Amino acid sequence: MKLVVEIKRFHPEKDTKPYYQKYEINAEKTDRILDILLKIKEKLEPALGFRKSCAHGVCGSDAMIINGKERLACKTLVKDIVEDKRDSIRIEPLRNLPVQKDLMVDQARFFDNFRRVKPYLINSEQGLKKERLQTPEDRILFDDATKCILCTACYSACPVIQNINPDFIGPAAIVQAARFNDDSRDTGFEERLPQLDSSNGAWSCQNHFECTRVCPRSIKVTKIINLTKNKIKKYKAGHQE
Ligand code: SF4
Ligand code: FES
Repeated sequence: MKLVVEIKRFHPEKDTKPYYQKYEINAEKTDRILDILLKIKEKLEPALGFRKSCAHGVCGSDAMIINGKERLACKTLVKDIVEDKRDSIRIEPLRNLPVQKDLMVDQARFFDNFRRVKPYLINSEQGLKKERLQTPEDRILFDDATKCILCTACYSACPVIQNINPDFIGPAAIVQAARFNDDSRDTGFEERLPQLDSSNGAWSCQNHFECTRVCPRSIKVTKIINLTKNKIKKYKAGHQE
């Protein structure tokens, strides 16, 4: 099939503002959007900028907006997009972050927020002589959060970051905090609390569910944010003078 691909382009060293450029390319319905971008780069536009690495939905580096929705280019097939529409695809960079070039955004703010919640195991107990055992029931409590690949799709889709509070740490940072807060071997909740229990933390979330809608790992992101709010409330109730 002939496919028309419209890509939002911007090269800050040359362009004063972004513009859309159309490319016509032969494609199979079973091609991934990443295959299409690679074909365009190889045959039509060698200067096209986009990121990718694993090409299998694991590294999270090729999240972009494809026909209006945040998706991973390597996990999206042409037929997923064009079936009920014309044979055209529009591809844009993620929202809520500065564009570096074409489909590449500067993720520094996203990763700063990620680091802020101390996304690693904290345990104050020293000199342990044996491993910390965990039951399957304990493990399942943070299973969903372990699936996050830090693709930034939820950060891009969040209407709060876009319209209300650009300093909101964002859905993924809260998911990453929950990954450890809900781990029976971790004792770092109090250290993460200043970030989570603040106007830029979990309380910024207004339950729009956009993060849950776009997450390519089907993580129940909004649910995890609400469970984090409950955890904070419970902690504070137990620490009232
Ligand atoms: S929560 Fe989902 S959408 Fe957000 S960064 Fe993790 S994998 Fe991506
Ligand atoms: S290239 Fe790694 S997730 Fe798509």
